[in-house]
Amino acid sequence: MTMPQAEQHIPSPHPAAESAAPGSAARPTAVIVLAAGAGTRMKSATPKIMHPMGGVSMIGHALAAAKGLDPHHLVAVVRHQREKVAAHISQLEPAAVIADQDEVPGTGRAVQAGLQALTAAGAPAETGTVVVTYGDVPLLTSPMLAELVSTHEAGGHAVTVLSAVLSDAAGYGRILRSRDNPQDVLGIVEHKDATDEQRSITEINSGIYAFDAAVLNRALAQVTTENAQGEMYLTDVLSIARAEGGRVSAVVTEDRWQVEGANDRVQLQALGAELNRRNVERAMRAGTTVIDPATTWIDSTVTLEEDTTILPGTQLHGATHIGRDAVVGPDTTLTDVIVGKAATVTRVHGSGAQIGDGASAGPFTYLRPGTVLGEEGKIGAFYETKNVEIGRGSKLSHLGYAGDATIGEFTNIGCGNITANYDGENKHRTVIGSHVRTSSNTVFVAPVAVGDGAYTGAGAVVRKDVPAGALALSIAPQRNAEGWVQAKRPGSSAADAARASDARAGDAGESDGRSAHAQQNTKNSD
Ligand code: UD1
Ligand code: CA
Repeated sequence: MTMPQAEQHIPSPHPAAESAAPGSAARPTAVIVLAAGAGTRMKSATPKIMHPMGGVSMIGHALAAAKGLDPHHLVAVVRHQREKVAAHISQLEPAAVIADQDEVPGTGRAVQAGLQALTAAGAPAETGTVVVTYGDVPLLTSPMLAELVSTHEAGGHAVTVLSAVLSDAAGYGRILRSRDNPQDVLGIVEHKDATDEQRSITEINSGIYAFDAAVLNRALAQVTTENAQGEMYLTDVLSIARAEGGRVSAVVTEDRWQVEGANDRVQLQALGAELNRRNVERAMRAGTTVIDPATTWIDSTVTLEEDTTILPGTQLHGATHIGRDAVVGPDTTLTDVIVGKAATVTRVHGSGAQIGDGASAGPFTYLRPGTVLGEEGKIGAFYETKNVEIGRGSKLSHLGYAGDATIGEFTNIGCGNITANYDGENKHRTVIGSHVRTSSNTVFVAPVAVGDGAYTGAGAVVRKDVPAGALALSIAPQRNAEGWVQAKRPGSSAADAARASDARAGDAGESDGRSAHAQQNTKNSD
């Protein structure tokens, strides 16, 4: 049995907790996250609590909030779609104890299953504080839980419930308070079991609690299924604890979002939008300029340095990181992209990429996984890149594809260059050195290497390695078949235009009266 340790206090906003006796606001013995419910209103093959918002599943948010309390044990109670849910939880939190709820329904049974799983794991939760939360309440935060726990422990309560006052309380359990001593909570009555008078109460049970572990264990043994729903209600623990002489109290939160659950996709969207609003606001308070919060989506997992600017229509997902002074957007979607300091990223769709300090990407650029753009480098308009390392100061400015390639420093890749990396069966690498200049429409037929300082001619198809400093030419010399159009396309508008051009050139002779067009024509046929 692990004992709470005073030196492992987590910071708490409650001065009362800080001044409490050592051990009274310590690490909770356990947080039990309930996740056995069916979630049928989601109408989804994906378990409800695995639906994401802000880049993290709902249960992921719930586990993160729980973990923020640094509990001795983290428990998740599962039943519906058990295999998928348990695997997902174990992936997020390998140390979490997975508890299986049996066929007896109800939140009380779920918590009992959590406690039994701890006992089975050799870590019975018989002393200290046990916190209960829900897997489908994604906006709940660790500071809110810490406040609940510190109030609970500072007051020496048997149970402390997190409550909220809602204008529409229908469906929720209602908090019953003592008339003489309104600080005291008498119990919770479920909506379905409540009288009309009780249903007029607007203070609701969020379903999130701090329990004295010993009281919780004892009380659950007395909970029955004798109620309107035939379930073991966890809420019955409150009146049982009180009957035992324990103090039962409530922390009322004004932040209703933190206690709101998502049961269907409409609620999922509403909570997701609020989560995003909070993420965007947090970024702004931490030094990011966001021009249009309404069209900016920032996952909970994204990090931004100070003095970053996010332009409208931008979505930042996953492990994306934005470096200081970088400007991202408009209309940019980045997933797991590291953006360097003072980089600009304009109308880019990117994933698994790195953009170096002072580098630029976009507009209309598709950065695929493995793209690493060096500092001061550029991947310009209408470029697609994948698995390509581009050295410092190198530029791929317009219209092309670079895949499975290594490009050195200060190289300029001309317009429309393509790495032909796929032979229909296998992928091959293109290696291009530093200070290389490639002309428009060069195709690199991989595997192929181009040495430092080499050039390519326009339209070159580079099939053989190019030595350093060489000019690679692969296009056959141009030959003009004079008069071909008038001979082969007589009467066409092209033939008419050619004849008119010839006539003008004839009239003008060698004089300066020739049109620019005619001069051009003459030059080309030289
Ligand atoms: C419960 C509370 C109610 C409170 C409401 C807040 C009880 C008896 N009632 O209502 O007072 O206002 O939450 O949302 O506790 N779960 C299990 N196993 C079960 C049943 C539920 O793990 O057998 C989990 C669900 O996955 C969910 C949570 O417990 O995460 C709440 O279940 P739900 O059915 O939504 O809540 P109610 O019982 O209606
Ligand atoms: Ca229920």
